Amino acid sequence: MEEKDEHAAPANGAGLVVVANRLPVSLESAPDGTRRWRHSPGGLVSALEPFLRTQQGAWVGWPGAAGQDMPPPQDEGLRLHPVDLSADEVSGFYEGFSNGTLWPLYHDVVMPPEYHRTWWEAYVRVNRKFARAAADVSAPGATVWVQDYQLQLVPAMLRELRPDLRIGFFLHIPFPPVELFMQLPWRTEIIQGLLGADLIGFHRPGGAQNFQWLAGRLAGRESARTVSGTGGAPGEIRVGDRTVKVGAFPISIDAGELDQLARRPAIRRMAEQIRADLGHPKRIILGVDRLDYTKGIDVRLRALHEMLAEGRIEPREVAMVQIATPSRERVEHYVRMREDIERTVGRINGEFGRVGSPVVHYLHTSVGREELAAFYSAADVMLVTPLRDGMNLVCKEYVACRHDLGGALVLSEFAGAAAELTSAFLVNPHHLEEVKTTLHQALNVPADEARRRMTVLREQVLTHDVDHWARSFLTALNAGPAFSHLPSRPPSPGDSTPDPAAPTLRTDWVLT
Ligand code: ADP
Ligand code: G6P
Repeated sequence: MEEKDEHAAPANGAGLVVVANRLPVSLESAPDGTRRWRHSPGGLVSALEPFLRTQQGAWVGWPGAAGQDMPPPQDEGLRLHPVDLSADEVSGFYEGFSNGTLWPLYHDVVMPPEYHRTWWEAYVRVNRKFARAAADVSAPGATVWVQDYQLQLVPAMLRELRPDLRIGFFLHIPFPPVELFMQLPWRTEIIQGLLGADLIGFHRPGGAQNFQWLAGRLAGRESARTVSGTGGAPGEIRVGDRTVKVGAFPISIDAGELDQLARRPAIRRMAEQIRADLGHPKRIILGVDRLDYTKGIDVRLRALHEMLAEGRIEPREVAMVQIATPSRERVEHYVRMREDIERTVGRINGEFGRVGSPVVHYLHTSVGREELAAFYSAADVMLVTPLRDGMNLVCKEYVACRHDLGGALVLSEFAGAAAELTSAFLVNPHHLEEVKTTLHQALNVPADEARRRMTVLREQVLTHDVDHWARSFLTALNAGPAFSHLPSRPPSPGDSTPDPAAPTLRTDWVLT
């Protein structure tokens, strides 16, 4: 009874609530002990923040530092609700289960996941904390959109506290193949946690299919019945008297905003300055990533190193810029990977650089939007080579900035974006010779072929933006064309044609 009173719908609650591990801003401590709020890293925040701001929604999340006592900045577009985590919770839930177990498991075990009961217990405790926080700020009948692998138990926990809510869940990383997911000692609990949602979204139809199969196998039997479409079309799963919808919703970026930003004369001047600072090389190669072992930064450095050694790249003619945002710096795999990458950069520059002119310009930092747009505009070849990536927004950002139709995108087949950006130079990052050949092609692509490829890429990215993604998801979640939280907007070119990625819910295929 007490539990129910505690989570009665608040009178002034929000109608649309995003629940994510991180708030869009994180508290960072400088070496001198001062603290400041910074934009949070990663694609989830890049994608969701601009959208939610237009909706006057609320955002429940962790402020990025243990035991913080500084209230986050409030702004008019967004109500931020911090969830405080203790140092133990950060260690067990965030660094442990989320990033030492789930992250590597869901990314094709490119690093071995670790399974520890104490990490799992912290994950359960912290998921409950987020569910309570969401219950506390949601208006009666509100739509709550839970995000990503850190919070997979929240949908079921929140439903228990607030059955009046409409709950969506979106996974920003790949959902793994069935045989990998089955390794997880707490696989049934995760599936049951997710099944608390009304709609579960993945980037790719394959992820949705894997989930449906597992729901039947692990939670199915008595309680669930899977209704699935063919060829990756979304489906439905029956859980008791409820129906859970499952679908693929490929995320994107605010493409129009970046396109406009890159057209500004100030950004064009910054891009020219970047070229000049690099000594006007014939070709600039760019990498922009969180410093994560899934991103294949080591792969592109190895390819460059071998091509320099083989004389296929002339060091005076080519400069590579790698901008790497610091990430998860207390997690062991990340510490080792950083050492490895920095050693390789040093080796390449030691062997092929000259005084005042290294071949690889490596920045271990995060840069602002404007500078990023200038780097994208200056780069002749964008290297995006993840070993596995749910979507990858960097490649879409590069395309959005290339209104001049210049530049060439080298893109891993193992990024979700490869399914949409088929006119990129697609590459298997596990095949080093192929990476080298593809990089060579991209560096030497004839201008008319580059323009043709970029035209097709831009058509895709500019018509499938983040607004389109969020609306597809929220419309499917609310199961009808009318959705009261969304203001109307002028039609965009992407609206007139059927979107293969938009969910068409099917009820005519029944698998038992
Ligand atoms: P992930 O979500 O795994 O980090 P994505 O490519 O989907 O990967 O999204 C990364 C986001 O972070 C993009 O919006 C990109 O612009 C931004 N980003 C990545 N590296 C940097 C950097 N060094 N400086 C500024 N922004 C960065
Ligand atoms: C990816 C994940 C996000 C995460 C981001 C940054 O985009 O999908 O959930 O927030 O990386 O990682 P971090 O561990 O710093 O939050």
